[in-house]
Amino acid sequence: MSIDRADLIDLSYLLAAILFIVGLKGLTRPRTAVRGNQLGALAMLIAVVATMLHEDIVSLAGMIFGIAIGSAIGVALALRIAMTAMPQLVALFNGLGGAASVLVAGGYLAGISSVTDASVLTATAASGLIGSITLSGSLVAFGKLQELKFVKDVSFTGQQFINLGVTVVLLSLGYLLVTQPASAQLWFWLMSLIALGLGVLLVISIGGADMPVVIALLNSYSGLAASATGFVLNNNLLIIAGALVGASGLILTRIMCDAMNRSLWAVLFGTMQGGNSSLSDDEAYATVRSTSADEVAMMLEIAQNVLIVPGYGMAVAQAQHAVRDLTNLLLARDVAVEFGIHPVAGRMPGHMNVLLAEADIAYERLKEMDDVNSTMDQIDVAIVLGANDVVNPLARTDPDSPIAGMPIIDVDKARTVIVIKRSLSAGFAGIANPLFGADNALMLFGDGKAAVVEISNALQEG
Ligand code: TAP
Repeated sequence: MSIDRADLIDLSYLLAAILFIVGLKGLTRPRTAVRGNQLGALAMLIAVVATMLHEDIVSLAGMIFGIAIGSAIGVALALRIAMTAMPQLVALFNGLGGAASVLVAGGYLAGISSVTDASVLTATAASGLIGSITLSGSLVAFGKLQELKFVKDVSFTGQQFINLGVTVVLLSLGYLLVTQPASAQLWFWLMSLIALGLGVLLVISIGGADMPVVIALLNSYSGLAASATGFVLNNNLLIIAGALVGASGLILTRIMCDAMNRSLWAVLFGTMQGGNSSLSDDEAYATVRSTSADEVAMMLEIAQNVLIVPGYGMAVAQAQHAVRDLTNLLLARDVAVEFGIHPVAGRMPGHMNVLLAEADIAYERLKEMDDVNSTMDQIDVAIVLGANDVVNPLARTDPDSPIAGMPIIDVDKARTVIVIKRSLSAGFAGIANPLFGADNALMLFGDGKAAVVEISNALQEG
């Protein structure tokens, strides 16, 4: 039995598909995540090489040229981008994935004199539709994450109906594309252009703290667009890999919705709108009291149970190693130390877990929100390190707040709360936090890392 080129490609695709699945499975556990990531990268390498063996590749030189340019941009971005800007980069990557699907499907229509197969035309329509929504939605998400001033939360009455109307127009154009193959290119590009508008409409109204859900959803869309493109090109691996991204992104969206107590349907149909909190900074911060590292060290010396709640500020300050040193000092004094991890703390899923794992903080010390909330009354000192929205009690008390209904870590119910941050500035949701002025709260103003180092020094000297 001899193996020809087509068999070799198929076998390589099968191997790559298996490696993608095993790699994805590895990503479900912190201990196997690095290996999972490596397997995924290996699968992608096999997939690219196998694709280059295809006989219908028009120009190998063109493909290598494209890979060289893309790789150079990718390496430059990866080297230059700050870890805290990673979510924006992921948003851009999702958008580029969507754009690639649109261009490949459009290029396919342009390169083939007439496509009459309805299933291929349907797949082309799906690529154009989902890919365009992903592109423009991701660019808006990028702008929001980058906190670009001109990308504002926009919502207006009747928005759902406009979204619905545009969706009906898009589906009609998709129908025309499939039923009138002679004008397929016209309908395809018209549909893709209008779908760009729908992508903006779906994401622009989502404000406050709800961006994690959108990013997960756009990630899913980029996979679905790629999968549809796989049907256009009759490429099994693209279908499988795209479906894996689509399905895992949707599962992540579901998890994020649960974590934030949001409805999946509202996210899918762009009807989720940010509210407006009426609490002013003056009201919230009238009774703020500040403290010093020495004073915090004294409190920790007599504490038995300490909870550390990290947030985005820990990532900005790169304070994770300093936190590990403080934790070890406290453990050496028989103080029980745990970490309360909010599912959307930071700017990307698992952000805090990754940082704490990087500093070798034992995974067993990391507790989920529900677990720490149920024992909060036993916590002597809760240290909030660069977290804001995820500990904001307004989520429980103000139904008009953009974070209303979002479960938070209830540090305000601990005996004493120390909040470490540089100022009284708001977090991502842009709202005041009454925790800072609470009777049991003290602010330790300063950079997260410097403050934690100072506390550790004071503990050692004390
Ligand atoms: P945020 O509410 O964004 O608050 C972070 C706080 O860190 C800020 O108030 C800031 O205050 C402080 N900070 C910044 N740099 C610091 C430094 N060097 N040292 C000390 N503190 C510093 O963070 P969070 O509580 O982690 O909540 C996350 C928010 O992001 C949520 O609203 C969430 O929905 C949203 N979000 C999450 C994700 C995912 S998937 N996790 C994705 C997109 C958006 P100062 O400026 O006063 O220091």
